[in-house]
Amino acid sequence: MAKTYSIAIDGPAGAGKSTIARRIAAELGYKYVDTGAIYRTVAYFLDLWGVSPKDVDGVERYIDELTVGIEYDDEGKQHMIMNGMDVTDDIRTPDISKKASDVSAHGCVREMLLDMQRDVAKQYNVVMDGRDIGTVVLPKADVKIFLTASAEVRAKRRTLELEAKGQKADYNQILKAIQERDYNDSHRAIAPLKMARDSIKVDTSDMNIDEVILTIRQIVGKKIPV
Ligand code: DC
Repeated sequence: MAKTYSIAIDGPAGAGKSTIARRIAAELGYKYVDTGAIYRTVAYFLDLWGVSPKDVDGVERYIDELTVGIEYDDEGKQHMIMNGMDVTDDIRTPDISKKASDVSAHGCVREMLLDMQRDVAKQYNVVMDGRDIGTVVLPKADVKIFLTASAEVRAKRRTLELEAKGQKADYNQILKAIQERDYNDSHRAIAPLKMARDSIKVDTSDMNIDEVILTIRQIVGKKIPV
């Protein structure tokens, strides 16, 4: 099989990973793999069955009933398929964000999703974003970026994003949810959010999107023939 290239982008919630990763992927002609969406799909599934994401026995009992698929449409957009159903738009709620964070702490869930993520990277050149891509999923990724920003900046961006969509947004509530998710994601026992030793940190607190893209393109250019 021909060599495929992989770019891992890890970092906390709201750091702009998906926006940045999607653009880098489009510019390089790589597939963008949003791994958070996979955990969200698991959380959504368990929620439909009324299983608490913290219920170890319940999660273990129900998880075998779930088949998660990733598909790409003609525009390259990733779709999440839960037991044959497209749930791409259903998994983007604050409630599912919190539940995905809780559900992602279970070893059985992470194990089930590991090969699926690695298989995509074997098949395609990828920009993959998540929390443990550079540390666990693709420890040999060609480029590893740790994308971060202060919790306050991330909360402010999220607030503006929601307001721009005409939705109600409470900065303090958003900041609290981000801080809780940061804590949850970086303190779990298995594959916690942390910077890989060979990862390059990009703090976007004082950067706009174009500056971040330029910075990452320069890092990528040194490691991958583009
Ligand atoms: O990136 P996101 O907000 O869509 O991710 C939702 C949750 O999924 C996040 O809080 C933690 C979990 N997650 C994970 O544990 N590992 C990943 N590689 C990606 C996401």
